[in-house]
Amino acid sequence: MALQGAAAAEELVFYVNGRKIIEKNADPEQMLLAYLRKRLCLTGTKYGCGGGGCGACTVMISIYEPASKKIRHYSANACLLPICSLYGAAVTTVEGVGSTKSRIHPVQERLAKCHGSQCGFCTPGMVMSIYTLLRNHPEPTSEQMIAALAGNLCRCTGYRPILDACKTFCKESICCQRKTNGKCCLDQEDDLFDNEEEVPTSLFSTDEFQPLDPTQELIFPPELMRMAENQPKQTLFFRGERVTWISPVSLVELLDLKAAYPKAPLVVGNTSVGPDMKFRGVFHPVLIAPARIPDLNVLKYTNDGLTLGAACSLSLVKDILTNAIAEFPEEKTRVFCAVLQQLRTLGGEQIRNVASFGGNIISRKPTSDLNPVLAASNCMLNLASRGQRRQILLSDIFADGVGNNTITPEEILVSIHVPYSRKGEYVSAFRQAPRRENALPITNAGMRVLFEEGTDVIKELSIFYGGALSATVCAKQTCCTLTGRHWNEQMLDEACRLVLKEITLPGSAGDENVDYKKTLMVSFFYRFFLEVSQSLKTMNPCHYPGIPVEYGSVLQDFKTRMPQSIQIYQDVEPSQSPQDPVGRPVMHQSAIKHATGEAVYIDDLPSVDGELFLAAVTSSRAHAKIVSIDTSEALKVAGVFDVITAHDVPAANEFHFSDDPEIIFARNEVICVGQIVCAVVADSDVHAKQAAAKVKIEYEVLEPVILTIEEAIKHNSFFEPKRKLEQGNVDEAFETVDNIVEGEICIGGQKHFYMETQSMLAVPKGEDKEMDLYVSTQHPAIIQEMVAASLGVPANRIMCHVKRVGGAFGGKILRTGLLASVAAVAANKTSRAVRLILSREDDMVILGGRHPFMAKYKVGFMNDGRITAVDAKYYVNGGCTPDESVLVAEISLLKMDNAYKIPNLRCWAYVCKTNLPSNTAFRGFGFPQSGLVTETWITDIADKTGLSPEKIRETNMYKKNEQTHFKQKLDPQNLIRCWNECMEKSAYYSRRTAINEFNKQNYWKKRGIAIVPMKFPFGLSTPYLSQGAALVHIYTDGSVLLTHGGIEMGQGIHTKMIQIASRELNIPMSCIHFCETSTTTVPNACASVGSAGTDVNGMAVKDACQTLLKRLQPIIEKNPTGTWNDWIREAFKQSVSLSATGYFRGYNEYMDWEKGEGQPFTYFLFGAACSEVEINCLTGDHKNLRTDIVMDIGCSINPAVDIGQIEGAFVQGVGLYTMEELKYSSEGALYTRGPDQYKIPAVCDIPEQFSVSLLSPSQNPYAIYASKGIGEAGFFLGCSVFFALRDAVTGVRNERGLKKTFALNSPLTAEQIRANCADAFTQMVLCPTDCMLALSLHSSSPCYAQYSLGEK
Ligand SMILES: Cc1cc2nc3c(=O)[nH]c(=O)nc-3n(C[C@H](O)[C@H](O)[C@H](O)COP(=O)(O)OP(=O)(O)OC[C@H]3O[C@@H](n4cnc5c(N)ncnc54)[C@H](O)[C@@H]3O)c2cc1C
Ligand code: FES
Ligand code: FES
Repeated sequence: MALQGAAAAEELVFYVNGRKIIEKNADPEQMLLAYLRKRLCLTGTKYGCGGGGCGACTVMISIYEPASKKIRHYSANACLLPICSLYGAAVTTVEGVGSTKSRIHPVQERLAKCHGSQCGFCTPGMVMSIYTLLRNHPEPTSEQMIAALAGNLCRCTGYRPILDACKTFCKESICCQRKTNGKCCLDQEDDLFDNEEEVPTSLFSTDEFQPLDPTQELIFPPELMRMAENQPKQTLFFRGERVTWISPVSLVELLDLKAAYPKAPLVVGNTSVGPDMKFRGVFHPVLIAPARIPDLNVLKYTNDGLTLGAACSLSLVKDILTNAIAEFPEEKTRVFCAVLQQLRTLGGEQIRNVASFGGNIISRKPTSDLNPVLAASNCMLNLASRGQRRQILLSDIFADGVGNNTITPEEILVSIHVPYSRKGEYVSAFRQAPRRENALPITNAGMRVLFEEGTDVIKELSIFYGGALSATVCAKQTCCTLTGRHWNEQMLDEACRLVLKEITLPGSAGDENVDYKKTLMVSFFYRFFLEVSQSLKTMNPCHYPGIPVEYGSVLQDFKTRMPQSIQIYQDVEPSQSPQDPVGRPVMHQSAIKHATGEAVYIDDLPSVDGELFLAAVTSSRAHAKIVSIDTSEALKVAGVFDVITAHDVPAANEFHFSDDPEIIFARNEVICVGQIVCAVVADSDVHAKQAAAKVKIEYEVLEPVILTIEEAIKHNSFFEPKRKLEQGNVDEAFETVDNIVEGEICIGGQKHFYMETQSMLAVPKGEDKEMDLYVSTQHPAIIQEMVAASLGVPANRIMCHVKRVGGAFGGKILRTGLLASVAAVAANKTSRAVRLILSREDDMVILGGRHPFMAKYKVGFMNDGRITAVDAKYYVNGGCTPDESVLVAEISLLKMDNAYKIPNLRCWAYVCKTNLPSNTAFRGFGFPQSGLVTETWITDIADKTGLSPEKIRETNMYKKNEQTHFKQKLDPQNLIRCWNECMEKSAYYSRRTAINEFNKQNYWKKRGIAIVPMKFPFGLSTPYLSQGAALVHIYTDGSVLLTHGGIEMGQGIHTKMIQIASRELNIPMSCIHFCETSTTTVPNACASVGSAGTDVNGMAVKDACQTLLKRLQPIIEKNPTGTWNDWIREAFKQSVSLSATGYFRGYNEYMDWEKGEGQPFTYFLFGAACSEVEINCLTGDHKNLRTDIVMDIGCSINPAVDIGQIEGAFVQGVGLYTMEELKYSSEGALYTRGPDQYKIPAVCDIPEQFSVSLLSPSQNPYAIYASKGIGEAGFFLGCSVFFALRDAVTGVRNERGLKKTFALNSPLTAEQIRANCADAFTQMVLCPTDCMLALSLHSSSPCYAQYSLGEK
């Protein structure tokens, strides 16, 4: 079959939100997300990553299945869904679910009212995942709910409030809803809500919620039903600019097509082909979509198993296997169970709903979770090509070790036969991934053993591994050798040794990652050994002893359960007017719009006439001279308008905020991978990106290339100034101490991973060089300043507007200024509006993030744990330009004491100049790193003295009015209160005892607990950086328009400002509107950073309102019974100005670095967190069991917002300290470029029990209404999880007699945990020739002592 003679392209017919769409020019390369956003102007569905990894683009797809006469609803990622695959489908987007214009849906309402949205960028995706679940299950179980959200990421909330909203729909939640006394009727006996005093614990009221009424939902379009029932199915052709899509209806036709186009992929879910085409430059001119062919959708039970069509979705397979397991005897379903085990955590639900069974197998990705288990289980593939059908074992395709064997390009996979297990046959599957759910595996395995009847003699053994190599591999030799052997410890020992010998992994010896993968390979086999041993015992307890009881728990994988949570805050005084909203848990002012998708972000702005899209061309070298830039090919691409370089910058291409410049376009030299060299502007983002890829840059590599802190030290490459703080006499103090510990710790960087990538739209206004800039930034004034300087115009021509920001966390300040300048220069040159929206990949590659740290410390202490001397050096990887790195280093020094009084202290901070993208501000600003160093030496001292870490903490904590190491006064009363309350609320000591007991009873699983105090100084150490300004207008109808200098990026600042204005003007919040932050209304506003936004702008809003009220006072006094509107009308008549500015001049903060003293902070926040974890010693996996946080945040203006900030920051901290790992090539190119490689916390990572209490009563004389700025402080408390993990590892090491002192770096990943839980398996990997080791099932066996001696 040739394309030329084929039928004309079809019209693509589908429905979106009940509206019929007929697309005459359907382009196979067009994904639904772009189509919705650009073509249909439905911008509620968001772009977060484009690769299926974040869930921001979730929509619901509904299809009618004529055979069953049923409608199937499923969630899907619109970013990977080709529109051509939607023929006959109905799409529901967030706009179709509900809107403020018609009716908001209960899901939208509850997410908003439960405070489940902060920046709101993830919210439409969350709504769609929950909504789809409810369409299928109006009363879901909490497991279903949790599973439905596994594919949705949120960077702001920490998920707890989202889950609170979800719980209100769950079956189990039909209960008291934890109304007043802090205890839910469904809670367990020993839960965290026990003994809670009578305090407010509910941040929302369920009484307000509309009930869920399934009859109100959009119906499936009857026309699509008729089409599916009556229209004869015919082949569909869609032709785009470059690609043709063919969707055949019969197997014969498909085989003909495959014979004609052997290279054309079959596209079902597009979750493999799509990312390859998008991110890896793969191009396919023809795509064949076989999903409609019945043969590929079969489900058939045969005598020996189950045959499933290759096009069946993974979700369908999951359901089928679940049913089969319930139906058939256990003995027959062991293969099904093992496959199901992998399916549970494979991708998110959106991926599983579209990804096909056959696609996972045939794409033969090394990371396939299914291939190892299916291959080990003797699954058969039913293949077909024109005129031929055959059946092969799946394992055959991996026989060549690279997975290329056997299947010819003309062949297609029709179905897969999954056999029943037999008597005496056991099958298991294992995986370990950087995150438990929705993450590709580091290593996985499928294993099967069949015993000679009635014995433990191995008849067949099959072991397959994935993830570790470039393809699924079989340990064939090992299996052959072991056939005929008894299932005992000798066999286990030999099996591990043989596997390690047979499966060689690329990478140098000692490469930690390789060692980890090898350790996993043998650990998985050990786990299989335990499982089978236990099963043998169940079969025949007399013959087979099974496994020791303390080993049993490792056979249970960690499960994600619906977390329990509680939030305790101080209620307002009963005397407070009910109309006064201050101190109440008021919903985020935009929450409903977030949930309906009506909240507008930069890329949601409608296109401006003639608008161009900009794609950046970035450096692929870390340090090189630019020899030439060839744009000729790029300029030939259709739709390309121009290429913009440094030569097009009318004025400043460089900004000198310090000695080294910040650069817009690289001119002669590049200094990091990802630096912008030039940019292409074109009529569409697709064309701009295609052209950008065609710009050729010739480089001449320059030396040195410095990437790490160690290399920077070697080359003496630093940004100035270096900073030092000193108090007491450190050298003398070291002379008198009982003990000294010295150590080093590395803390990795962190990407901001705001859900809305860097976004801006520059619109030249055509006269007087005026330009409007719509930017996602925390600092409009700096955008204005930089753009004006780059264009060579006064700042008064540049108007910067910010409605809201989809998450920022410090990452949208100076770096955004450079990007905005790129867009503005392009707009200036072309006289067109220019839109620059970074793809997630570009965002991660171009922008830096949190500074990696390396610290060296020497700490002197007495035998009772008193620290008397500290000498520490902090090295900060600043990247290639200074940005704010010196300030970060300074803050890290100023906050390094955390909660402790250290009488003699000397610390240095050096900012390393390297060839990485410039690192920048990030929530916590250096404190999360230096605080972790401090807590690390605390635990070192505990190890050394044998005292508990909490004892060392208590001993050294600030106790009375004291001075910090830079001579600022400090009253630590509330620190001690937080600590004591946290100790009490977490029941620390009784849980410590319970954990010790647990650890005694469990050998391969251990628990750990840690409690960490925190002092978080508030301030920016420079007075003029904390100015606040506001502008308040009252209109003659009484409505109020409020604006101020702060930026809404999820922290609820506008909500709080409206609360303040409402109190001051004594009018309801509903009368007050906030429109946007703009340089036209509030000039020179300081950045919304350092938790200071509410403090400083709140003061200014109060000031403006008081000015207005003062003007109104005479009128009010004259007519005290009048209404607000009466007074305003009267004021207008009397020519009283109804507009006022408000101003706050900032705090008197200063720091004299010469003297090493000052008052850089205005006040202190305090807190403490206690976390408990459980680790799996065989894999390094862990689960966060419980966290209790107590925080002193003064008098909260809005407890819902503030608790949201604490929880969100805490979970981000957990990300930094335990999972977010950046990886670079040796040439400085970032590998971890999206959510598939870079793992931020997901729903599965939050503590199973999560309690946050606000300390009461607590006052703060320095900030508005005695509140405290709370945006950042909670972040550091995430390290309580790090130290709980350390505690668990310590438990393992103590039990095994391993060295007591050990060093852990951050992030404390599964890899590190596993390496530090040294055992026979890690030892085997490190010393494969050490044949003296014999594995034993029994922990008392001498082998455990043997390898401990061998440890380095
Ligand atoms: C965000 C994300 C997370 C993921 N997480 C995991 C994970 O944790 N574990 C895991 O194992 N996988 C994971 N995957 C991979 C996913 O499971 C596979 O991409 C998917 O199963 C492939 O199916 P598909 O229908 O989407 O394939 P498509 O992309 O449509 O096609 C894949 C390939 O298979 C071929 N093919 C498909 N069907 C046939 C057939 N019948 N006959 C012959 N060739 C065929 C095609 O030619 C093509 O080359 C993830 C993917 C994404 C995007
Ligand atoms: S944008 Fe589609 S999953 Fe991230
Ligand atoms: S609210 Fe979820 S990403 Fe901001």
